[in-house]
Amino acid sequence: MAKRTVIQILTGRPTSDGGGVRLVRVITPESKLDPFLMLDEFDSDEPNDYIAGFPSHPHRGFETVTYMLDGHLLHEDHLGNRGDLVAGGVQWMTAGRGIIHSEMPQQIAGRMRGFQLWLNLPARDKMKPAGYRDLDPEEIPHVRLGDSEVTVVAGTFHSDGIDPVSGPVVGGATDPLYLDLAIRPGATIPVGIPSGHTALVYVFEGGVEINGQRVAKGSLGHLSDGDSVDITAGSESGRVLLLAARPLREPVVSYGPFVMNTVAEIEQALRDFRSGQLTE
Ligand code: FE2
Repeated sequence: MAKRTVIQILTGRPTSDGGGVRLVRVITPESKLDPFLMLDEFDSDEPNDYIAGFPSHPHRGFETVTYMLDGHLLHEDHLGNRGDLVAGGVQWMTAGRGIIHSEMPQQIAGRMRGFQLWLNLPARDKMKPAGYRDLDPEEIPHVRLGDSEVTVVAGTFHSDGIDPVSGPVVGGATDPLYLDLAIRPGATIPVGIPSGHTALVYVFEGGVEINGQRVAKGSLGHLSDGDSVDITAGSESGRVLLLAARPLREPVVSYGPFVMNTVAEIEQALRDFRSGQLTE
């Protein structure tokens, strides 16, 4: 049983995207955290920070996972999908060969808070038809461990002394584990993670310690290999995303909303988008 430790700490960079939504970009493709391509955190109660939303835009070659903590977004895409994303809900979109969609706030006041993760697809799946799942809050399990709570967005949560709990999305090429852990002061949550999978812990409230190393709010800890990690909250509580997935070990060429394996495939995506054939 090898415990994972923190081997690298990254901090997010404030930026804006879409129509002008203020966010913190925690991971980019340059972070080289295969198969994770991007992690954006958005959190504001100032409408001017989010009201412009993400008007119509394309994606090809990967998946986007949007997890809402507060607020209300409406997704509409070229396939005719319309999905309401509310607090506690998740939208799991597989862009595959192409999707054109918008993600627009359905509120003019109040807090909007959540995350969008970009998860790469293997070469063999990059050109498959687009898919889309709206996961309502009721479909997402919450596991109580004393005064702490674990939300299982994807994959299977393994911990000491409990039966495994699976989220609504399990398996796939990268077999992602996506947990939201709210850890009470002084508590430790052990989490099983398959050996060889890339694993990350992003702290978005309070702070935690992993094997004696502190990871503060706004920091992402990249974990060493191993089959489990112990995450401890000290004198303050901590709330973290734990993300783990099987690396693809394939070349990554990204250009804006397109992530492929070669430059030629990116050029093809641009041609397909300009000629209206991205999704066909
Ligand atoms: Fe998008």
